[in-house]
Amino acid sequence: MTVRFLIWLAVVVLSWCGVTDGYMARLSNGGGSITSSTLAWVSAESNEQLPLHSVVFNPGEESGEKQYWCKGFHRGMHLPGVATSNGPCRVPFLGKVHSLNSFDVLVSVNGSARLHFFAWDKFTAKPDHAVVTPESMLVVARSDGQLLPGALMKGRGERHALVIDGDITRKIGKASVLVEEEPSSYSLHEVVLDASKQKMDNSTITLKTLNLTNYEDYPTNVSNFVTYKAEEQQYWGRVKGTVTARRADVTIPTRAPVAMPSAHVPRTLLWGVDNTLGYIGNVTLIHELPAGVGVEVELEGVMRKYEAPYTALLTSHYNDGSANDRYILSLHTHKALVSVIAKYNRYYYLANGTDYPMEPTTDSLFQLTTTTTTTTTTTTTTTTTTTTTTTTEPPPTTEEVPTEIVTEEVAEVWLPESDSYSKDSEAEPFRLDQDDEDDMSGEGRSEPSQAVINRPADTIISALASLLATLVFRYYASV
Ligand SMILES: *[C@@H]1O[C@H](CO)[C@@H](O)[C@H](O)[C@H]1NC(C)=O
Ligand SMILES: *[C@@H]1O[C@H](CO)[C@@H](O)[C@H](O)[C@H]1NC(C)=O
Ligand SMILES: *[C@@H]1O[C@H](CO)[C@@H](O)[C@H](O)[C@H]1NC(C)=O
Ligand SMILES: *[C@@H]1O[C@H](CO)[C@@H](O)[C@H](O)[C@H]1NC(C)=O
Ligand SMILES: *[C@@H]1O[C@H](CO)[C@@H](O)[C@H](O)[C@H]1NC(C)=O
Ligand SMILES: *[C@@H]1O[C@H](CO)[C@@H](O)[C@H](O)[C@H]1NC(C)=O
Repeated sequence: MTVRFLIWLAVVVLSWCGVTDGYMARLSNGGGSITSSTLAWVSAESNEQLPLHSVVFNPGEESGEKQYWCKGFHRGMHLPGVATSNGPCRVPFLGKVHSLNSFDVLVSVNGSARLHFFAWDKFTAKPDHAVVTPESMLVVARSDGQLLPGALMKGRGERHALVIDGDITRKIGKASVLVEEEPSSYSLHEVVLDASKQKMDNSTITLKTLNLTNYEDYPTNVSNFVTYKAEEQQYWGRVKGTVTARRADVTIPTRAPVAMPSAHVPRTLLWGVDNTLGYIGNVTLIHELPAGVGVEVELEGVMRKYEAPYTALLTSHYNDGSANDRYILSLHTHKALVSVIAKYNRYYYLANGTDYPMEPTTDSLFQLTTTTTTTTTTTTTTTTTTTTTTTTEPPPTTEEVPTEIVTEEVAEVWLPESDSYSKDSEAEPFRLDQDDEDDMSGEGRSEPSQAVINRPADTIISALASLLATLVFRYYASV
């Protein structure tokens, strides 16, 4: 039992390491924000069929066999290269070209990646969002009308790319770096929430307290227009291959297992983060009061916390107006006001404040309804969504989402992608003075600060430790 658990644990941890390190075609990102790509490195062997959507190295070339981007592990480094459809992967290392029969091939996840080239030379800063192995960027150079694949080490001191030219390698100071183009926004449609895995939790909150008074000397229906502030939260998950904090237009499902907040309005949110949407609700209270009597009223709301996995169609929109669809599996959470009641708690004489003998009553004012049973209960209630904190220009937020807990069911899709994995050693701003120094001390100069390189590794170890702790805890919790 314990042994089986330990083996299972080892497998889980190993595969997790694989996912965060070897598997993903990480992008180097100068800004250091959380970024992942629609690309993946998938293992392949010579003489076996390459995976679907392998990225072609020479798409436009009429002459010659089709070649695909690959990477191989040689002398402790992941080196980029190219492979024909039945291998091997040819990678440049120092002066030689090495052929590897076991390698990884670059795959565009469901064909969703968009790539272009960034013109780089030794006087230019290296681009953000380059496709990496992860030590090297993938580059091409053109020589005598031929396309040459190669590698450009990520380190800032590195000023030459190494390309494959026939059976030898060449050092060059000018190349085109393969860069992933990021979508400018997303839209999410065809959302289907999985009711079998949903979780709900209600809590009551006081929205407002007030008094209604009747100073007339006859009974009357007192009416009072009351506004209250409420907050709604929505989160549609983090998905591999998407960029956090981009604009996302979400079409709320009409056939949801529960009544959804703001179902009639397509929601503009920030992708991958918890969105807080404030709004002002208003109700008109009408209550019959005896002469000279007041009543203490409490507006009480029920806040519902909802959580469920879902599938949906995610469309990525690019700056040139083109778009790309893919189906995703992710986690949705929201917090919304689902009902409002007025509690008429205590009646009192206006003259002296003492209790007036009348039973407390309640009055239901608002109930969140599903879109199919449309707004018939809105005689006294209108909630207008006025202020959203998210329609403005998206800030590059990297705010952590509280719901990122690793669970077995959906771990594949929303394993937390810690900042440290996407930050690389080039995350510091480009500094000219530093670069002059680099040039003075020669090409082979190592990274300026070892500590910067070591830091991500430390974070990975501590992340692993906490994952282990979580798994152990989960194991004991489920015994
Ligand atoms: C690729 O698309 C298929 C259906 O079109 C979908 O079932 C699958 O989950 C997608 N894979 C990824 C990784 O998005
Ligand atoms: C929460 O409130 C909603 C609507 O008022 C209700 O349908 C649901 O059953 C409640 N859930 C719990 C756990 O109280
Ligand atoms: C309502 O009346 C009670 C006394 O009857 C008073 O203590 C309380 O402050 C009043 N509340 C409001 C909101 O005016
Ligand atoms: C108050 O309104 C109710 C419902 O409209 C009505 O039945 C009642 O007679 C009214 N009371 C007074 C004092 O006008
Ligand atoms: C308060 O005033 C009401 C009406 O004026 C009266 O009936 C009641 O006896 C008073 N109560 C006290 C404790 O004075
Ligand atoms: C209150 O509701 C009315 C409709 O009954 C609406 O026209 C108005 O804009 C709302 N006011 C506020 C402040 O939300």
